[in-house]
Amino acid sequence: MIFREYKGSLRGSIEVPGDKSISHRSIMMGAVAQGNTIVKGFLLGEDCLSTIKCFKDMGVNINVLDQIVEIQGVGLKGLKKPNKILNAGNSGTTIRLISGILAGQNFETRISGDNSLKKRPMDRIAEPLSQMGAKIECTNKKYPPITIFPVNKIQGINYKQKKASAQVKSSILFAGLYSEDEVRINQPELSRDHTEKMFKYYGVDIETRGKEIVLNKGTKEFNGKEIYVPGDISSAAFYIVAGVLFENSHITIKNVGLNKTRTGIIDVMLKMGADLRILNQKTVNGEEIGDILIKHSNLKGVEIGGEIIPRIIDEIPIIALAAVFAEGDTIIKDAEELKVKESNRIKTVYEELSKMGAEIKEKEDGMIIKGTRKLKGTKVLSSGDHRIAMMLAVAGEKAEGITEVDDFKCADVSNPDFIQLFNTLK
Ligand code: S3P
Repeated sequence: MIFREYKGSLRGSIEVPGDKSISHRSIMMGAVAQGNTIVKGFLLGEDCLSTIKCFKDMGVNINVLDQIVEIQGVGLKGLKKPNKILNAGNSGTTIRLISGILAGQNFETRISGDNSLKKRPMDRIAEPLSQMGAKIECTNKKYPPITIFPVNKIQGINYKQKKASAQVKSSILFAGLYSEDEVRINQPELSRDHTEKMFKYYGVDIETRGKEIVLNKGTKEFNGKEIYVPGDISSAAFYIVAGVLFENSHITIKNVGLNKTRTGIIDVMLKMGADLRILNQKTVNGEEIGDILIKHSNLKGVEIGGEIIPRIIDEIPIIALAAVFAEGDTIIKDAEELKVKESNRIKTVYEELSKMGAEIKEKEDGMIIKGTRKLKGTKVLSSGDHRIAMMLAVAGEKAEGITEVDDFKCADVSNPDFIQLFNTLK
């Protein structure tokens, strides 16, 4: 896909597609609830469609009509043995969360994904799930395909997480639905808490106290619900940064999810000096939402690390681009998790932006970005990573000349409307 330097401003109001994390969880909860769940604002991106396909392959009726999804829940024990290997595609959230559910089934399943997913570590879920009594085998002890065998009982767990990860804690919590015991998780830092919020919304007996989560003992069946999925702040992040970078821009992004475990991008942009405001805040099915107003601003370099990292983990590629256009250096540290995302995002951000003339130092746990305030168009690679593709698209619009982003199609994983929405702001 070709991007040409855009010298104008971005103006107007958009809504971004539904939150990816909440969309995945809505299908999973809906499938194992008793009775129907209706999901509005569902993200029809490739990742969430993989989750739908996995549950359809286990006999769940799911009807998709535009962004409304109806799931005919079968209850915790109503899933059927699939007659093929489940395919999570590119989606780490699908494979890791579903494994918790599969651990509690009385049939064997095998689950795999695309070439990127096959390189992502699954021992991080296999280890706690095994402690809960699950029988789970990864390829070479670490990678997909994963095979999950039936066991007599899923036990409780008191788990101290070494790294903050919403996918790992959610996998444990989903397995916990199949346990009559207590499940307790202690997090080193807060990661996104959509699973905890959704469990509460469905009436599951779960408590959160700071970094501790307790899923209380007892049986855990629950009924279907109606869910509204807000816009994905991780998709909004690309337009937020674009709005700040293009002169005279003034944009509004409506109905964006503003869950506090996800709003690190707003904190970072404010710290860099961006003119951002939040309006019309409200809470829907336990999740905060609101409108974000963005105006063009001059940015300054910042240091980012520690507790904020899990709150910006998916936004670091676009923050790196913002840093190129800031005054002074930006230091990003404590972010070694970037290496095991859809691509090694420390490497892909460094390599691709460097091709465009950025001055970036690659570090073990992040990067240092010099605020050189200009880029030159050239040929760059998405590496099949949707967030790298979209970051490079914004970079291409800002850079002098012409930028060609190879395999831009992978943006469909989280935002199939990326280009169309960008163009409505021009
Ligand atoms: C997600 C959790 C994060 C995030 C991913 C979605 C989720 O991964 O990067 O895009 O929906 O739980 P980790 O849990 O591996 O940090």
